[in-house]
Amino acid sequence: MNLNEIIRTRRNIKSFREDQIGQEKLLEWLETASYAPNHHRTEPWEILFVGADTRAKLNHKTNFFNAPTVLAFLSVAGKTPLERDENMIAVSCMMQNFALLAHNDGAGTRWASFGSSATAREILGVPEGYEVVSMLAVGYPSEDPETKSRTNITEKIKVLA
Ligand SMILES: Cc1cc2nc3c(=O)[nH]c(=O)nc-3n(C[C@H](O)[C@H](O)[C@H](O)COP(=O)(O)O)c2cc1C
Repeated sequence: MNLNEIIRTRRNIKSFREDQIGQEKLLEWLETASYAPNHHRTEPWEILFVGADTRAKLNHKTNFFNAPTVLAFLSVAGKTPLERDENMIAVSCMMQNFALLAHNDGAGTRWASFGSSATAREILGVPEGYEVVSMLAVGYPSEDPETKSRTNITEKIKVLA
């Protein structure tokens, strides 16, 4: 696939096969994903590989959609609201890179807006000074979801004088 196809065909995957993705592959995607933009080169991401016991304690939906791998993406909170925002944005860019790389290799991801509550933070052992950006369920898809159409981008564009 070329980059255009990779971006257009990536989908939020809701159902996964049982087979694990190799650790080397996951690390390769994370390593490449870390070439995401990040202001002042803070590299504000930290990634937690969330194992079975922790998943059970988190008790999220159908155990994170029964995906074989679950990752939590943390961001350094920074010293100011601006730094916090910039770091969260950088981690989001990194997560999207990861999702696209996984998709390009036939795997899939599902975002979970989960992990930032006090309870979840405690279970995940998130240290002070870190935010939980989101979690990703990762695995080989057992479905091929349709593209959800997008608004024509021209409707989202304003040209300023
Ligand atoms: C910040 C963020 C949070 C999201 N949280 C969730 C979530 O909690 N559960 C979920 O199923 N999808 C979540 N999604 C995925 C979106 O629902 C999904 O991208 C959207 O429906 C468009 O579908 P597509 O990714 O297949 O194009 C999230 C996406 C983003 C960017």
